[in-house]
Amino acid sequence: MGNQYCDLGLAGLGTMGRNLALNIGDHGFSVAVYNRTGEKTREFIDREVEDRDIRGCFSLAEFVGHLKRPRTFIITVPAGPPVDAVIEEIIPLLSPGDLLIDGGNSFFKDTDRRGRDLAEKGLLYLGLGVSGGEEGARYGPSLMPGGPKEAYERVEPILTAIAARVKGEPCVAYLGEGAAGHYVKMVHNGIEYAVMELLAEAYDLLRRGLGLSPGDIAGIFEAWNRGEAASFLVEITGPILRRLDEKTGKPLIDLILDQARQKGTGKWTSREAMDLQVPTPSIDAAVALRDLSGFKTEREAASRVLKGPSPVFQGDRKFFAEQLGRGLHAAMVLAFAQGLALLRRASQVYDYRLDLAAVAGIWRGGCIIRAAFLEDIRQAYRAHPKLRHLLLGPHLGRGVIEQVPDLRAVVKAAADLGIPAPGLMASLAYYDAFRSARLPANLIQAQRDYFGAHGYERVDAPGAFHTGWKKE
Ligand code: 6PG
Repeated sequence: MGNQYCDLGLAGLGTMGRNLALNIGDHGFSVAVYNRTGEKTREFIDREVEDRDIRGCFSLAEFVGHLKRPRTFIITVPAGPPVDAVIEEIIPLLSPGDLLIDGGNSFFKDTDRRGRDLAEKGLLYLGLGVSGGEEGARYGPSLMPGGPKEAYERVEPILTAIAARVKGEPCVAYLGEGAAGHYVKMVHNGIEYAVMELLAEAYDLLRRGLGLSPGDIAGIFEAWNRGEAASFLVEITGPILRRLDEKTGKPLIDLILDQARQKGTGKWTSREAMDLQVPTPSIDAAVALRDLSGFKTEREAASRVLKGPSPVFQGDRKFFAEQLGRGLHAAMVLAFAQGLALLRRASQVYDYRLDLAAVAGIWRGGCIIRAAFLEDIRQAYRAHPKLRHLLLGPHLGRGVIEQVPDLRAVVKAAADLGIPAPGLMASLAYYDAFRSARLPANLIQAQRDYFGAHGYERVDAPGAFHTGWKKE
C-alpha cells in the first residue's frame, strides 16, 4: 500500500458508492471506505477491490483517522434523512477545513441547508450531482458539482480523472455556489423524465398504431440512434425491445407491467418550475403520465366503458415512422429547451451564475440524457452566453424548427388514433405558444377583472385598468 493516509473517504457502499470507489481507485487515488453495516465493507474489500488502494474501515473513528488532512469525504447514501444521519455522526470527528461531498440525488434545498449548517462549523460542503447509473459511476459519470469554489478546487483532480470524457474533455465543471450542482442534476432528471416519456409515446405509436413487433420497433430505434436523435436513451431502447424473456421466449417488454415507478426528482423539477414560473410542460406531462400509469385498476375499468377511435394507422406506414423520428427529435430538443430555460431563471433567482454552455458540455457524456445534439446546444450558448432562450439562438434553427411540421403531423395522427401522446403534444404546444406574439391571456385578464376586480393592462396605454363589467 502507498501512503499511510488516504486521499478520500467514501461513506455508503451501495451500488453507486462501490462503483465510484473502484473508479477513483482505478485512477490511482487511495480511498478509505465505510459502510454502516460492516459486512458490506468486508464483502466489497474481499470480492471487488483487488490491487487498488481501497481500504475498508469498520468504525467512523477508523474511517476519519485514515484520511489526509484537510480531509475529504464523499457520501453516497440514499437522498433524504440518511444523508443527514451520516453528516450528524461524522461531524464530531471532523476539523475545520474538512470537506464533505454529497454524491446523491439530494433535493437542492436540503443541500443549501446542509451547506449553511456546515459552513457555521468551519466545514466545507459540496453538492455533487452524479449521473450515469451504475455503469457511469464505474467507468465515467457526468459530474455536476456546486458549492464553495475552494472546495471544488480541492477535489478537481479527482473529479476530472473519474468523469466521462467526450473527445478528451472531462464531463465535469464547477457550476456555482450553494446547491448549483444538485439543482442542475434535478433539472437533468426532469429532462430525463421528459425524454423517456417521449420515447415511450413513440414506441406506443409504433406498437399500437402501426402494429409493429418489438423487434421491428427496435430496428427503428437503432436507425434513429444513427441519426440526429442519437442519445443514450434512444440507444438503450433498441436492446430493451429486442430482449426475449428467458422463461417464455416472448419479448420481455410485453411482459413488463405498465406502471412506472419514480423516486421523485422529475416531480421536484416540475414543482420548482411552477414556483419560478418557468413553463416546463413536457416535463410536467412526463410526471403526470408516470402518475397516471399507477392508476392501473381504473384504467382497466375505463378501457371497458370509454370508447375511442381505432388505434390502427391507415396511411403510409414507412413515411409515418420517418416522420415520427424527425418529430421525436424536435420534441426532445424542445424538452431540453424548457429545462435550460428553467436553469436560466434559477441562476438569476439563486445567484448560481450558471454557464449554460458548460452545463450542456458536461451533459454530452456519461449521463442518462447524453445526446449528440447537446454539442449544438453547447455551441448555441457559447456563441451567445446571454441567450434568452434556446429557440431564439441560430444554431437549432435547421435541426428543430424545420422538423416541427413532422411533430405536428405525428401529434395529429396520435389524436386521430386516440393514442395518448401528451409529451409530444406538450412539446408542440410549447413551441406554438412560445412563437405566439399574442396569446389569449387577454381574455384571462378580462375574466379576472370581471369576477375579482384584479385589473388589467392595455396594449395601447401604460398603467393598470379596471372595467365595471357588470354595469353594461
Ligand atoms: C442518473 C439518474 C439517476 C436516477 C434514476 C431513477 O442520472 O443516473 O437520473 O440518478 O436516480 O434515473 O430516477 P427515478 O426513480 O426518479 O425514475
